Amino acid sequence: MIQAPRGTYDILPESAARNVVEEQARRKAVEERAEKILGAAGYRRIETPAFEATEVFARGVGEATDIVQKEMYTFDDGGGRSLTLRPEGTAPVCRAYLQHGMRKLALPVKLWYLSTFFRAEAPQRGRYRQFWQVGAEAIGSDKPETDAELIVLLADLLDALGVSHDRLRLSSLGTPETRAEYREELKAFLRAHEDELAEEVRNRIELNPMRAFDADDARTRAVMRDAPKLLDRLAPGDAEHFAQVRSLLDEAGISYELDPTLVRGLDYYTRTVFEFTSDELGAQSGLGGGGRYDGLIELLDGPPTPAVGWAAGVERMLLSARDLAPPAELVDLYVALAEPAGSLTAFELALEARRAGLQTQLELAGRSLKGQLKHADRIGARFVAIVGDNGHVSLKDMGSGEQRELTTSDVIPAILRGRHTQA
Ligand code: HAM
Repeated sequence: MIQAPRGTYDILPESAARNVVEEQARRKAVEERAEKILGAAGYRRIETPAFEATEVFARGVGEATDIVQKEMYTFDDGGGRSLTLRPEGTAPVCRAYLQHGMRKLALPVKLWYLSTFFRAEAPQRGRYRQFWQVGAEAIGSDKPETDAELIVLLADLLDALGVSHDRLRLSSLGTPETRAEYREELKAFLRAHEDELAEEVRNRIELNPMRAFDADDARTRAVMRDAPKLLDRLAPGDAEHFAQVRSLLDEAGISYELDPTLVRGLDYYTRTVFEFTSDELGAQSGLGGGGRYDGLIELLDGPPTPAVGWAAGVERMLLSARDLAPPAELVDLYVALAEPAGSLTAFELALEARRAGLQTQLELAGRSLKGQLKHADRIGARFVAIVGDNGHVSLKDMGSGEQRELTTSDVIPAILRGRHTQA
């Protein structure tokens, strides 16, 4: 049998889904809560295409990142142009911001999205090749309030979904220049302690000195306690910006851990970076994260424009949103058939009931009357109209069991009256 490609999954009605990631109804709840929380703060929805010119990511995310080096689905459009299925949303949103001259709008331009993204990673729990993100981007403000407000909005979204977030890691990366100088300093430090470092760390001094902070090896960890930290090297303006972000988060009652080793997998970050994690998720513990990207719009040929944002993985939120019950499905009326000769009446009754605003389902499977009543009960129908062959209908209230004989034209008013008195 043909299967969905590895690392992808189908989104299904609850009855067919085998896990929360596949359930349509829970996703809808995520969407509704994101819309409510972000909409209330003035964020407006944006959708960009599922693929972009490869350049958008090569330049935006960075040639040297794992995403661009190993994880992109890139193909030729048939005319010699290279396209890529979007691995993330920030660079495309900035591309759209520039293309549509949005800098003439009131700043900052606040946008949010709920879209699919694609990364050729090894699939495991919480990691897929096609996945969804809710993201928010505020373009055109360098105010620390913007960073703090966005972090609070993500915390609010996680809380509204009942997603346990154990940690918020927070740091500042300063400017690319500060970072480049710091990198040299760190490399020199590591070389000076080379014989005390684990072999894998030693081998990666030139390539990725920051990884040394993540090493499990005890001797390496001891060395790294005295290693220079980027946070101590920030230029005064960047340090001041970060101090303000922190005090605003304190003010908002958001607890965080300063983590000077927080490196995110995208090159466009400047100043603030952050990540919410959940221990429940195991290896793929990152629920969502983001930061400031003051240089990205310029990399995409725009004018210097400060911006900040985040994205959170929908599947990871669903996996840890324990109490996110899918909204109950409502069925006001089930139209059942006692005699085959009544089928046209039944068909018309169902159409009219829907036009009158009732959630109505019609018997379509040729079940026995007993089977129909059983099915109506299973789907939680409040009323069943059993249509005979002479235009007469018997209306059964599934709650009370009471059954009344009516003419067809009286069925809908009777249900509407019943609904009215119940409400
Ligand atoms: P990111 O950290 O690469 O950031 O992804 C954000 C979130 O997407 C992750 O925390 C994770 O929950 C989810 N995610 C990433 N890869 C996968 C995957 N293969 N399967 C399932 N979930 C995944 C960004 O993408 C930035 N664009 C965020 C941002 C917005 N920064 C500024 N603005």
